[in-house]
Amino acid sequence: MLRPSDSSVPPATGGSLPADLPLLDRRGFLTTSGAAAIAALLTTACGGGDGGGPTDAGAPDNNALPTGVTRDGTTLRVDIERVATLRPTNGFVIVGSPATVIVNLGNDQFRAFTARCPHAGCLVSSVSNRRIVCNCHGSTFDADNGAVLVGPALSGLRAFPVAFASETRVLTVNAT
Ligand code: FES
Repeated sequence: MLRPSDSSVPPATGGSLPADLPLLDRRGFLTTSGAAAIAALLTTACGGGDGGGPTDAGAPDNNALPTGVTRDGTTLRVDIERVATLRPTNGFVIVGSPATVIVNLGNDQFRAFTARCPHAGCLVSSVSNRRIVCNCHGSTFDADNGAVLVGPALSGLRAFPVAFASETRVLTVNAT
C-alpha cells in the first residue's frame, strides 16, 4: 500500500546543477557513502530480497496510513470501499503500528491479525484461498483464525477484534 513519495525528488534538469544544491566535502561524502553501505549491509544481513530472513519490504510507514484508513489510538477505522486491495475476497492490506494485516474473507467477513510472522519477524506477504503466507520461509496461516497451517512458524498470528458495519461499510479493528 505504501510507496515512497516521489514528491521530494526534483525533476532532472538537463545536466546543470541548481545553484543552491549543497555540495559534499570529502568527509561528507565518506559519511554519506558509509551510511549507504551500512544500510546495504543491514539489508543483506536481514535477508532483504533473498527470502532468507526478516524483512520489512513493504512495511507500513507508521506515520502514513493508506487512503481510507484512520487511527484513533489503537483503533483502526477502515472504509472498505476506499481501500482497493481489501475489496475483493482474499484482498488484504497491512497497516499501522503494530503492523496489522486485515483480510477480506468474502461475504463481508473480515479478520485482522498481527502482520509479524512469529517465526522470525517478517511481515506476512500474501493471501490466497483463505491462507496468509509469509514468504520469508513459507509459514502459512489460516486467514479465518490465524492458526499456523505450515511451518516453520510454531505459533499462529495473534488475532485482533474486528467489527464491520454493513450500512457504512466501515471496519473497526482494535489493534492492541
Ligand atoms: S519469518 Fe520465517 S516464515 Fe515468516
